[in-house]
Amino acid sequence: MKTRQKPKTRPIVDHETLPHITLGARPDGIAVLTFDHPDTSANIFDATTMGELSDLLDALRLDPLLRGVVITSAKPSIFVAGADLDELEGARGGEVAKLVERGQRTFDKLAGLPVPTAAAIHGACLGGGLEMALACDWRIASPDKVTKIGLPETALGILPAWGGSTRLPRLIGLPKALGVILGARPMPPRRALGLGVVDELVPRERLLERALQLVRGDAPKRRRHLLANNPISAAATRWLASRRSRRRTRGHYPAHAAAIGVACRGAGGSVSASLRRERDAAVRLAGTGAAENLMRLFRLGEGARKSRGATGADPAERLEVGRTAVIGAGVMGAGIAQWFSSRGLPAILQDIDTTRVASGMLAVDRLYRDGVRRRLFSEREARLLADLVSPAATPVPLDRVDLVVEAAVEDLEVKKGIFRDLSARARPDAILATNTSALPVAELARAPGVDHPGRVLGLHFFNPVHRMKLVEVIATDLTDAAAVESALRFVRRAGKLPVLVKDRPGFLVNRVLMPYLVEAGRLFERGADPLAVDRAMLDFGMPVGPLRLLDEVGLDVAAQVAGTMSALGRRFEAPIVLAALVDAGHLGRKSGAGFFLYGGRGGSGVRPNPSALDLRGGGGEGAGGDRTATHLSLLMVDEGRRALDEGVARSADDIDLAMVLGAGFAPFRGGPMRYGSRLLEEGVRHQLGELGAGP
Ligand code: NAI
Repeated sequence: MKTRQKPKTRPIVDHETLPHITLGARPDGIAVLTFDHPDTSANIFDATTMGELSDLLDALRLDPLLRGVVITSAKPSIFVAGADLDELEGARGGEVAKLVERGQRTFDKLAGLPVPTAAAIHGACLGGGLEMALACDWRIASPDKVTKIGLPETALGILPAWGGSTRLPRLIGLPKALGVILGARPMPPRRALGLGVVDELVPRERLLERALQLVRGDAPKRRRHLLANNPISAAATRWLASRRSRRRTRGHYPAHAAAIGVACRGAGGSVSASLRRERDAAVRLAGTGAAENLMRLFRLGEGARKSRGATGADPAERLEVGRTAVIGAGVMGAGIAQWFSSRGLPAILQDIDTTRVASGMLAVDRLYRDGVRRRLFSEREARLLADLVSPAATPVPLDRVDLVVEAAVEDLEVKKGIFRDLSARARPDAILATNTSALPVAELARAPGVDHPGRVLGLHFFNPVHRMKLVEVIATDLTDAAAVESALRFVRRAGKLPVLVKDRPGFLVNRVLMPYLVEAGRLFERGADPLAVDRAMLDFGMPVGPLRLLDEVGLDVAAQVAGTMSALGRRFEAPIVLAALVDAGHLGRKSGAGFFLYGGRGGSGVRPNPSALDLRGGGGEGAGGDRTATHLSLLMVDEGRRALDEGVARSADDIDLAMVLGAGFAPFRGGPMRYGSRLLEEGVRHQLGELGAGP
């Protein structure tokens, strides 16, 4: 039900029937604009909504009775979630310019109103939503979980161009504003308050009342940060931010450089000149391959977040997961239990003895403390949520549990034993899931003593659980469609993005990644400089080099996973040097040495391990640069294609999304499948050109 506010007296202007924004005029001359998109649960700035706001502001400006304006939303979890990506994605050149100018003009009208204005924010206030709020004199927000505030544009390959890159630095100072713009992450309300992006946090029930109070009190306009934004400090900030960004993005994300330029140049000069620079940069960026790929990935993520009825299962047979249990309180088990509890889901955390359970509970506690530090939770919230995790060192009754996730050691026999025990203890309809990295899930379903194999599946979380959005949902040939559907729904409800994959060795992400890691090991074995190999892939856009990644995973674990997957072909066979390193006790970061040395000053691990160099013997093959990057990245393209052909993933889109989220595959390249098709297109065009048949 929509809650439309009826004016108590004559409307200031006669516009209260607009479809997306309701105008409520009050006797005290304050206009309340309530965003409420009629067709969806989200408010977004499509052309119609922007047009309505613009018309309303024109009318309000002419009204002599107007004393103030408050902007709010009628949606339960959205203030305004941003621009309409459909309009932006299809737009080119002049169309982008028009779209940008329309928004800028409208928000300029808001900023130019002669009366105080306030945004009362509850729910997602992102992109254009925040840029509108920035054009107000006051921003107050509810402290609720659904309230998220941020400017995600640079993560989509563009920049805030409806005044955000201009107004935010003036409000909170350039360095902090660049943090928000380049970070591109939605902030919890407490962080937004700490940065000064919002002025106050007010309980949702009192939000409107407080906003009215603020505008009624003829509040002064917010101060400008003249010191932070003076030309000299702005130039210094620009230099620093550019250097940091070049190091981080390696020049692959032009939106970062553009946003830094626009924000820093605009910090001191006129607003209108800065808005023009915003527009020109947006036009330039919208045409780049990076923006195209990043927007597509955003859409794929939204699709994974929303898709319903993926398996065609009968909705009546679905299980609504409420209570959970996690078996194994190690790195993954503790991470999973903490994540569940943080989403309000009770979780039993079980391990084989009290010491291990206690260490798991300590890990849960650490994660919460970290969350408090990052202002994701208040102290009280963190305590309440942490209490949802119940430790168990002995088998406790599971009759109220709907989902069990097994995250014990990666050993098939141990896991079979656990599933046998769970089968006896859990309700027959409870879902039994394993978090195995690479063991066959079907063997657990078929293990003697496991009843109802149809409810056994894989839920493969990634490490660290609280950071990694992807969960592979692994269906065996025996898994019931209803169990799969329930698991997919549960993962979405728990705030992760599920990708449905088949029970084949390595599932999807490890499968596509492994030939790449193995080949990096072989290059090393043949004498390549480990720093050069890793640098080549960092330059390609990977978040970490392959040899360093092997060290992080643990060389023993990597060798074991490669062993499990070697049935798929020689491309999965670990190089001999890997076994030699493990035998010599060089297990990677956890033992202080692997391909690289750790534990030195700052533990940065950038020094090759001399013993590893000795172990590989002679050789001396050079490596590095574009050739190595092409060589190694093509292995992921090739493996993605094989996985698709075998039906491991349902689509190339799923592979791209999973590889970007689960393995950090260079997002600006759009994922291995997209990257592969682009190479193919380029190759075809090149050949045609050679044949004189080019365009
Ligand atoms: P871990 O070694 O940190 O923890 C395993 C825990 O399981 C230990 O506390 C151990 O005492 C406990 N355990 C062993 N037998 C048990 C039993 N019968 N009942 C209850 N608990 C038992 O291992 P980690 O890294 O947490 O891995 C757990 C699982 O998650 C493995 O299958 C692993 O392959 C998988 N995984 C690991 C990832 C990682 O990055 N560490 C990523 C994704 C999956």
